[in-house]
Amino acid sequence: MTQISQRGKTIFASPFRKYLPLADAAKARGVDVIHLNIGQPDFPMPANTVQDFRWTGPDFVPYGVAEGETALREQWCRYYEKFDIQVHHGQVLITTGASEALQLALLAIADPGDEIIVPEPFYANYNGFCQIAGVNIVPLPSSIDDGFPLPEMDAFASAITDRTRCILLSNPNNPSGKIYPPAHLEQLLRLAVEHDIYLLIDEAYSEFVYDGFDFQSILTFRGADQHVIVADSVSKRFNACGLRVGAMVSRNAEVITTVTNYSRLRLSPPMLAQGLANSLLQTGPEYFESLREEFARRRQIILDRLSRMEGVVFHAPEGAFYILARLPIADSEHFSSWLLQEFSHDNRTVMVAPGTGFYAGEGCGLDEVRIAYILEPQRIELAMDCLERALAEYPQRTIQETTAITGLK
Ligand SMILES: Cc1ncc(COP(=O)(O)O)c(C=O)c1O
Repeated sequence: MTQISQRGKTIFASPFRKYLPLADAAKARGVDVIHLNIGQPDFPMPANTVQDFRWTGPDFVPYGVAEGETALREQWCRYYEKFDIQVHHGQVLITTGASEALQLALLAIADPGDEIIVPEPFYANYNGFCQIAGVNIVPLPSSIDDGFPLPEMDAFASAITDRTRCILLSNPNNPSGKIYPPAHLEQLLRLAVEHDIYLLIDEAYSEFVYDGFDFQSILTFRGADQHVIVADSVSKRFNACGLRVGAMVSRNAEVITTVTNYSRLRLSPPMLAQGLANSLLQTGPEYFESLREEFARRRQIILDRLSRMEGVVFHAPEGAFYILARLPIADSEHFSSWLLQEFSHDNRTVMVAPGTGFYAGEGCGLDEVRIAYILEPQRIELAMDCLERALAEYPQRTIQETTAITGLK
């Protein structure tokens, strides 16, 4: 009997993308949809990398080796030197984005029914990655009310069972923008060693740190090498999301061997993309300085605008390029689809990601949305005009508005 698997029927729906059909329908009606739902910035890749890139291989594109081209892995190690990370290219495995790095790492370290502890809110697709691996997320809440801090070590310790295989988090954090202080990372490492579990840290946003916050890669802490796995990516760092190149990094040889065995099943990472990623990784510091400056400017616009909206709670993100804000709404799924289906202001609307997808805990994130500050300032201002007006007009608003609609831009 033909059928669709239970897994397929219930697979987690990405909150950044699930309302895209509604956005397409709004566009078909002639509405300008401003996409603050997905972390894809509008900056160019580093100058010349695309123009200068030449395929120097044979006159066909062969498969590469499963673990990625040695030249790229060596380049990744050189790039890491600026973060004081010393790794050998044998400890770096090239993947199709951080997404594949995370999925293969989970498949390597956990069996179906095992548990992964994840502080929430977390990068929504972890829900799907864990579901595919048959692994259960054990969420540890952190609240917007105190700025999404890392949960207390006692909370981690009491969540650990004999089925726990790792603690997973992104640093800088998507969606909260939190950067975890080195002292807290050190405590997590000690806990991982004590309970003999892994720390799987997603460092896709390592270049995006504001206000002098202290980002330290987990790979710089030594003495617990066997417990550390990092997922990394060129996607955000170089405005190359569609290149689909990332890496899984670990000094644990068994983890590398197991992930290599998995990666052989998909033969090799994309060859042309690996060549381009190699050039990208040679980009100088000025590129990131100007990106950080521009992101900080965009962040400030959002912060200024949100602070003028009644009933909106948020914290200035320390890194990455997202704000998870609490709005005066009771159901962020309904609000996000209402924005696309029923609302427009000057024939324009804004698309955001509903907060629920960034949690595993029942009922969490219902009054939160994630806003990505990835577009040029003028578009962000227009998007904030829409959000402000939408909150005033939304029929299910949970507090009485005091701002007269006529007072809005
Ligand atoms: C925290 C985090 N990890 C991983 C990814 C996926 O990255 P990639 O494009 O490298 O697969 C994203 C994408 O938004 C992300 O925000």
